[in-house]
Amino acid sequence: MHLFALKSKSHGKKVGFVPTMGALHEGHLALVAEARKRSDVVVVSIFVNPIQFAPSDDLDRYPRNLKKDKKLLKGFDVDALFTPAVGEMFPEGFKTYVEVEGLANKMCGRTRPHHFRGVTTVVAKLLSIVYPDLAFFGEKDYQQQIIIKQMVRDLNLPVKIATVPTVREFDGLAMSSRNAYLSEKERQSAAILYKALSTAKQEIDRGERDVRKLLFRLRSIIGSEPSVRLDYLVAADPETLAEVSGLSGKVLFALAAYLGKTRLIDNMVIEAR
Ligand code: PAJ
Repeated sequence: MHLFALKSKSHGKKVGFVPTMGALHEGHLALVAEARKRSDVVVVSIFVNPIQFAPSDDLDRYPRNLKKDKKLLKGFDVDALFTPAVGEMFPEGFKTYVEVEGLANKMCGRTRPHHFRGVTTVVAKLLSIVYPDLAFFGEKDYQQQIIIKQMVRDLNLPVKIATVPTVREFDGLAMSSRNAYLSEKERQSAAILYKALSTAKQEIDRGERDVRKLLFRLRSIIGSEPSVRLDYLVAADPETLAEVSGLSGKVLFALAAYLGKTRLIDNMVIEAR
């Protein structure tokens, strides 16, 4: 893979890379479309990364459908699809991990303490194997892209990170491979998450500046769906992810919630003008 990128680069071509865990949906495909638009050579990876799942997580039941994924990618003129086996990425005796301090302990990191260490380690490996000029990440996983940008800066990795806005279902639910786990009833209830975030935007646009009041309002909206259990809801600085108590400039509203056993995340960056 590295040689493939080097060869392309030596011919003056820009290599764009989209790392995924497969079970592709329109959110992933928006990243591939953006990569296609902004690069000459597009590489997509599909690898369900075991080290970003905790033993109690959904690694075993995580949806895998390579045949369907390949079909979905057909329309995008992808130059290379990289689907390594677990043993290739993490052979016996693997010992090196990449950890971004601070940022990885907040928000999702509180509930999933080793998750981001698994993400940064695999992304560092994928970047060094694929060796792209540009790598594409979704804003849906807001904390993930902030952590990856920090890692790239800190380790001087020769890649530029580009982000793509969240692609949503008709009712606002952020597209996610995990939406497939939801029962019909849970799927309907899940729309409340985007509804709550949209309410925050409406209230801020109307002049509300009291963060505590906003968070309280959002909690009560989400609480109106008994099948939704909030894991966390924060208002934070969009760069440092530090929680904020006042509103000025851009603020990140981010949340995670359980519907049954399924954990979903969503966020919205809202500008208080
Ligand atoms: P995965 O969940 O498969 O997501 C792959 C990429 O697609 C991520 O950058 C994610 O933010 C983006 N994405 C997912 N849903 C999206 C949506 N609705 N709109 C826009 N982009 C969306 O994130 C991972 O895999 C893994 O952690 C990975 C980075 C591949 C490392 O294992």
